Amino acid sequence: MGKSVVRLTIDGRETAAAQGSTVAAALLNAGLTELRQSVNGEPRGPLCGMGICFECRVSIDGRAHQKSCQVLCADGMVVTTE
Ligand code: FES
Repeated sequence: MGKSVVRLTIDGRETAAAQGSTVAAALLNAGLTELRQSVNGEPRGPLCGMGICFECRVSIDGRAHQKSCQVLCADGMVVTTE
């Protein structure tokens, strides 16, 4: 059986991701490594991949500060980086 694909929107661009993959993986697949900025304006992106560092935060379906490494991609999901 082939892997199912879900479609989501990242910063206004439609993209596809394997079902069961994290939003962080989809973001990296889309070439996005800088998801937000620190208070000093330094670029930040996924670091730990396990929910501890909080560096992978994005907005998901209008909810800010979601840890993208802890959320699975879903059909119709809208993801926005800073
Ligand atoms: S990569 Fe560290 S919390 Fe997501």
